[in-house]
Amino acid sequence: MRLVLLGGPGVGKGTQAQILAEKYNVPHIATGDILRQAVKDGTEMGLKAKSYMDKGLLVPDDVVIGIIKDRLAQPDAKAGVILDGFPRTVPQAEALDQLTAKLDMPLDAVVYIKASTDIVVQRLSGRRTCRDCQTVYHVEYSPPEKPGVCDRCGGKLYQREDDREETIRKRIQVYEEQTLPLLDYYRRSGKIVEVPGDGTIEEVNAGIRRSLT
Ligand code: AP5
Repeated sequence: MRLVLLGGPGVGKGTQAQILAEKYNVPHIATGDILRQAVKDGTEMGLKAKSYMDKGLLVPDDVVIGIIKDRLAQPDAKAGVILDGFPRTVPQAEALDQLTAKLDMPLDAVVYIKASTDIVVQRLSGRRTCRDCQTVYHVEYSPPEKPGVCDRCGGKLYQREDDREETIRKRIQVYEEQTLPLLDYYRRSGKIVEVPGDGTIEEVNAGIRRSLT
């Protein structure tokens, strides 16, 4: 299964990608997670990316395209992938098309998840993420068994720097300006399926599964 999860900040792409990656036994590839790891490791790429991420802006296309090129070339991606947060601009989508054609790894579908702004802001302000394995929780909607501790690996949970309300609003604006044009791009390819994102995690997941049958 090769899927792209498309949607604005906080619609649940990461949450659904984790569930789908487990179900299909394929890697979950999230450019946001890879960039945050690079920031944590203090690499040159991480330092460059941080200045964009903290402001809610997109990291330049050449950086994220390079990340995806390297990641899709790894052996575990041959069986399938769930792409979360990539592509986010038309040049990124064009680069992905070229790459998947070259690797003979055609996409099965682009899943577009749509949720209302108020719901998204509530979700993002309560989000907690594991510092070690990046598993995502919500203090109210999907809490860990022990507050502040990851169920999966025991790592510490933290609140993302870009989950402050003003940065959330900026990310939504950037999404509308730079990522929404991808809907038309993928509608032309006939691979897009649209799924409502306002329901519970289980309801959204059921919607995705239905749309893929
Ligand atoms: P990225 O990490 O991709 O952030 P995003 O797209 O803004 O998406 P989020 O991770 O905020 O939300 P999500 O949809 O994954 O929601 P989640 O499942 O966590 O990117 C961050 C930054 O990196 C960007 O701003 C940019 O700077 C850079 N970047 C990344 N990719 C890039 C690219 N391709 N090009 C350029 N720059 C790039 O859910 C949110 C919360 O809600 C969680 O707490 C979760 O538990 C909860 N939740 C989820 N679903 C539900 C539900 N149905 N009901 C109740 N709660 C729910």
